[in-house]
Amino acid sequence: MQVVKYMFQPHGDDRGQLVALEEFKDIPFQIKRVYYMYDTVSGVVRGKHAHKKLEQILVCIHGSCKIKLDNGSETKVVPLEKPYEGLYISNDMWREMYDFSPDAVLMVLASELYDESDYIRDYDEFLAMTRQKIEVGKQEK
Ligand code: TYD
Repeated sequence: MQVVKYMFQPHGDDRGQLVALEEFKDIPFQIKRVYYMYDTVSGVVRGKHAHKKLEQILVCIHGSCKIKLDNGSETKVVPLEKPYEGLYISNDMWREMYDFSPDAVLMVLASELYDESDYIRDYDEFLAMTRQKIEVGKQEK
């Protein structure tokens, strides 16, 4: 599984650091929505879903957390602990966010507005979807 991480350019000077994110330049899609999680309770696992269409970039702008990515056949754990790095997550990836430090602020840049019908929250349904894609891929060869 390929993990796509973006290293953003910090504009540092003697006053401190600043990161600017522009759609189609630093972020590979139009940013239609921004949301962030904070005060996450210790031990909590968030996410636990995939999407039909939505693409996202996750930036832990303060503190740290871990992201588990699962493409249906392989899993990878990606720690996020720098405010200048972003993790790209495609629609068809099951994701779980956990191990939040008490001060963690996890910001998400999203390619679509909030739409509950875009969520795949059932893991078996997700697995069936990934298998279907593999089958289609085989037929195309
Ligand atoms: P939820 O999907 O449970 O978050 P996570 O996937 O991180 O565990 O969302 C929590 C609540 O926030 C839920 O009531 C839906 C709402 N929500 C919005 O209204 N807009 C949004 O953009 C998001 C991501 C969630």
